[in-house]
Amino acid sequence: MSDSFHDVGAEADFPEDGKLVASIGGWRVLVCKVDGVYHALNDRCSHAASPLSGGRIRRGTVMCPLHGARFDIATGNCLGAAYPRLRQFALRVEAGRIAVAVPETSPGMEDIAIRIG
Ligand code: FES
Repeated sequence: MSDSFHDVGAEADFPEDGKLVASIGGWRVLVCKVDGVYHALNDRCSHAASPLSGGRIRRGTVMCPLHGARFDIATGNCLGAAYPRLRQFALRVEAGRIAVAVPETSPGMEDIAIRIG
């Protein structure tokens, strides 16, 4: 099964707060910029499936807005708790455009965030 890249925007338009969310083929992708490098994560906390995109980005981590777990954006690893690593997606930048590869299959229930409230 191969993944294909999808354009998510221009580097020049990347938000000042260091994150953007893109919907690609049913996947919600959280793209973060850390020290000038872009990373793409599944927008779903591995603890209880909250969207991470509402969380604060700080010092290379994203904090889950629901219970406060912190994840290293570059590795997807949870810091200070034993929650599973976040799913990461391949990302490339070409000619000032950011592109992310997601699986060609739609996300399963284990890949989709649950919105509470
Ligand atoms: S859902 Fe993210 S820390 Fe609980």
